[in-house]
Amino acid sequence: MRILITGASGLLGLNLALETTHRHTVFGAVNQNVLKTNAFTVIQTNLLAPGAVERLLERTQPDWIIHCAALANLDACEADPLLAKQLNTDLPHTLASHVARSGARLLHVSTDSVFDGLRGNYTEEDIPSPVGVYTRTKLEGELAVTQADPRAIIARVNLFGWSLTGNRSLAEFFFNNLSIGRPVMGFTDVIFCPLLANDMADIFIKMFEMNLSGLYHVVSSEFLSKNEFGVRLAQRFNLDSSLINPTSVVQSGLKAFRSPNLNLRSDKLAKALGETLPRLSTGLDKLYTLYQQGYPQMLRNLGSS
Ligand SMILES: NC(=O)c1ccc[n+]([C@@H]2O[C@H](COP(=O)([O-])OP(=O)(O)OC[C@H]3O[C@@H](n4cnc5c(N)ncnc54)[C@H](OP(=O)(O)O)[C@@H]3O)[C@@H](O)[C@H]2O)c1
Repeated sequence: MRILITGASGLLGLNLALETTHRHTVFGAVNQNVLKTNAFTVIQTNLLAPGAVERLLERTQPDWIIHCAALANLDACEADPLLAKQLNTDLPHTLASHVARSGARLLHVSTDSVFDGLRGNYTEEDIPSPVGVYTRTKLEGELAVTQADPRAIIARVNLFGWSLTGNRSLAEFFFNNLSIGRPVMGFTDVIFCPLLANDMADIFIKMFEMNLSGLYHVVSSEFLSKNEFGVRLAQRFNLDSSLINPTSVVQSGLKAFRSPNLNLRSDKLAKALGETLPRLSTGLDKLYTLYQQGYPQMLRNLGSS
């Protein structure tokens, strides 16, 4: 298949591109971070420029599109709500409108944090209640995609992994700090279900192959606090978990609101796939194997000039 991945320099998009390129023809669209790789075709384009989406689709002629490009930094969204709307709502709408007129299939990546996290245990049936610019614009993006292309898959995700910059994910935050013996905070009252970005590739491909459409939670079948995540990562990498100070997010000084309980149920997808989604230990084992194989450094080299 010909797969177009937008946001291919980002945490999710880059790992998806590298995982899928062995069996498919992959085109990775990037904006500012031009990748040096022959593993897949890299196309530099600012998707907000007039006509950029049409040109990209015309050039790549994809069967499947995985739309990862976004403004995914919460504080950046609060600082520039217009850009957040353009990237998280308007761009997915434009893309979905064009895809709907072609024979291609679209998987639009959304976020677990469309929920305010006051309750937890959310299914796809629950009404979202976004708090803040990032989550509001992402939810509006979901609605715009569904309206423009009802066959699209909307995947609400939470993820961790190795990234181009080496500091994009929570796993890297804990790994980088603990590796140099620096103490960090671990939030005890923020719950999530993170899935390894690399494992998401297989799942997304299966969703396309099974011709799914509509809304799915694509998260780990296990929920835990961010503090627990840090401790489990430290144990897997033989790092000192006592450097992680269990802390309430309220005392953290972080600017943008964080939903406290993002325990999302993935039963709908598990039923469709006929298998439960990976637990954290599976993802941490693979994260560690990738580390031993020099994968983080390999990613870093893709970005160096
Ligand atoms: N990271 C998480 O924990 C998390 C959690 C839940 C949901 N999500 C969702 O997962 C998706 C991927 O997130 P991520 O963490 O991989 O994001 P990321 O690392 O911040 O990457 C964002 C990507 O978007 C691209 N981009 C930004 N502006 C663009 C523009 N004008 N034109 C073209 N491309 C542009 C960036 O390109 P350049 O870098 O080349 O400029 C980059 O490749 C997003 O939809 C996000 O909302 C992420």
